[in-house]
Amino acid sequence: MTDFAGRLRLGVNIDHVATVRNARGGAYPDPLRAAKIAEEAGADGITAHLREDRRHISDADIDGLMEVLSVPLNFEMAATQEMQAIALRHKPHAVCIVPEKREEKTTEGGLEVAREENRLAHFIAPLRDAGCRVSIFIAADKRQIEAAHRIGAQVIELHTGAYCDAHAEGDFATRDRELEALREMSAFAHSLGLEVHAGHGLTYDTVQPVAAFPEVMELNIGHFLIGESIFMGLDPAIREMRRLMDSARD
Ligand code: PXP
Repeated sequence: MTDFAGRLRLGVNIDHVATVRNARGGAYPDPLRAAKIAEEAGADGITAHLREDRRHISDADIDGLMEVLSVPLNFEMAATQEMQAIALRHKPHAVCIVPEKREEKTTEGGLEVAREENRLAHFIAPLRDAGCRVSIFIAADKRQIEAAHRIGAQVIELHTGAYCDAHAEGDFATRDRELEALREMSAFAHSLGLEVHAGHGLTYDTVQPVAAFPEVMELNIGHFLIGESIFMGLDPAIREMRRLMDSARD
C-alpha cells in the first residue's frame, strides 16, 4: 500500500497551449516551451492528452515531450488500439486511461470500468508490462474504484469536475456533497492499495479542499493554469497553485 510520504505532486496539463496554437495552425505558442517553464515553476510532471481527433496535442508534441522533459510524462489516452500502440512505442512514465467522445468539449465523466472490466484488464496489461504506471480516470464511485482495482490499475484519478462545476455555479450544497464523496472515495481507494490522484476543473478557489485529503498524491491541472497565464504568465500561475496546494497540505 502507498504511504503518505512526500509532498503532494502537481502535474501540469499543457493541452490548451496546443489548443491556442492550433487555432491558427502554426507553431506557437509551443507546448514544449510551456512544459519546460512548468518544470522550472515546480511541476512534478507534465500531462498531455493525445485525443483521437488530435484537436490539441499532436503526435509530434508527444515525440518532443518524450525527448525534452526532465520530469515524468503522464500520457492521457483513450482505451483504443491506436493509443495503446503509441504508448507502447514511447513507454512514458505514466498513462492515464480516460473516456473520450468526439463531440465533447472536454473529458466529461469518468471511465465506465465496471461495465468493461474484461476488455480494460486486457488493455492495460501490456502497458503495465512495459513499465508504465497505469491510472484510470473515474468518478468518485465505489463500484468503479473496486473495478479499477480488480483490473490491476496501480492508480485511480478521481474526476473533480462535478465538484468544481457546482462551486462555479454557486450550488454549495451540491459542491459540499461532491467534495464529501471525493473525500470518502479517496480513503476507500487508498484502503485497497490504490494510489489516488485527482483532477479536472480545479482552480485557485477549489484546489485546497482536495489538496488537503491526505490520500491524494497528485493533482493534474491544466485549463485554469493556461488561462491564468494570459494575465500573469505561466511561471507565476503555476507557483501560486503550488503554494496553495502546499499550504492546504500543511
Ligand atoms: N485529469 C484528467 C484525467 C483530464 O482528462 C484532465 C483534462 O484533460 C485534467 C486532469 C485536467 O483538467 P483541467 O484542464 O480542467 O484542469
